[in-house]
Amino acid sequence: MDLFEYQARDLFEKHGVPVLAGAVATTADEAQAAAAKIGGKVVVKAQVKVGGRGKAGGVKLAEDAQDAREKSSAILGMDIKGHIVNKVMIAQAAPIDSEYYLAILLDRSNRTFLIMASVAGGMDIEQVAHETPEKLIKVPVNSNQGLSKSEALKIVADAKFPADIAEQVADTLLLIWKVFTSEDATLVEINPLVKTTDGRIIALDGKVTLDDNAGFRHPDHEALIDESAADPLEALAKAKNLNYVKLEGQVGIIGNGAGLVMSTLDVVAYAGEKFGGVKPANFLDIGGGASAQVMADGLSIILGDPDVKSVFVNVFGGITSCDAVANGIVQALEMLGSKATKPIVVRLDGNNVLEGRRILNEAKHPLVQQLDTMDGAASRAAELAAK
Ligand SMILES: Nc1ncnc2c1ncn2[C@@H]1O[C@H](COP(=O)(O)OP(=O)(O)OP(=O)(O)O)[C@@H](O)[C@H]1O
Ligand SMILES: [Mg+2]
Repeated sequence: MDLFEYQARDLFEKHGVPVLAGAVATTADEAQAAAAKIGGKVVVKAQVKVGGRGKAGGVKLAEDAQDAREKSSAILGMDIKGHIVNKVMIAQAAPIDSEYYLAILLDRSNRTFLIMASVAGGMDIEQVAHETPEKLIKVPVNSNQGLSKSEALKIVADAKFPADIAEQVADTLLLIWKVFTSEDATLVEINPLVKTTDGRIIALDGKVTLDDNAGFRHPDHEALIDESAADPLEALAKAKNLNYVKLEGQVGIIGNGAGLVMSTLDVVAYAGEKFGGVKPANFLDIGGGASAQVMADGLSIILGDPDVKSVFVNVFGGITSCDAVANGIVQALEMLGSKATKPIVVRLDGNNVLEGRRILNEAKHPLVQQLDTMDGAASRAAELAAK
């Protein structure tokens, strides 16, 4: 889960990372009140989960509370790269001397945590990384040993931070390492980390991505979820504990096992090329032990997707045998009754397949057709979706 900047700011504050006063507002009235409370000059910042807000006109300096009100009403409702601004953050304005960059992230391709640091921070860090990569240093962190003060100081020195702030920057790095590990983040980025004209080091903008797989360790992270942005079908699936991801095609997919479902998506996309570019409409892994209830939950979510024109149930019977899955499908269709409205292509294989196929044949459900091979079934499902 990506956090909004104001949420990242609050998380920073909780762990002692130096930040300025800031408050979130959803209306110009609230923005004005927040600015009056902070006092003096403030910065009005669009809260959207996309980079480049400043360049898109979503970050504006305001002279006072009245000005903050005006700037906020201009920014609220703005469209930044397809993201509508529903909230702004009112942040105390900092007298900036220099802008730096600090980040810790999970580097999946190298299977390590990575620290990135640069004295060329600010809005053009992407350009710096691209054109002058030597100005952005990258140092892997050993996850078992963590980060020591002396290592942090070495990184800061290697990145050529001025000596008079080295200590403060190293301490900030240690603090964001604490945020990264104790909150189970996969990204903690500060851009810009600024030196103020009076020599303080402050995080002015933060990006944090939390690892949803560690959510069970952090009941407090639930409050950070942006309900308004969630896909309604994904939210429904989540409530039913299903591993569902909405995609853009027309063939609803149900399978057991993430690997099988992934390859089903490929096979359907390939088969769909013959039918005018039909594509899979979702990823849904119902896992092992697919009970009738799980099958019914999965089917009802997929059938509730207006983009879906046909459904492909692709199951390889293992510990849960095909007859149990077939019974699950039959009972699920009974539970759904008239809510089941789209053709369903089923391919069963594996443990006890003959009995599974017999059960489905015998049920003679008008929406269900069986095919024996994955390719054949994918092709039929794509053909039905194209009709
Ligand atoms: N509180 C603040 N006080 C003074 N200047 C600020 C403040 N916050 C941001 N700025 C200035 O605005 C610039 C852009 O702000 P910020 O980094 O928050 O947004 P952005 O980088 O455009 O957005 P994103 O990080 O989403 O790409 C900063 O580099 C800084 O110069
Ligand atoms: Mg920024």
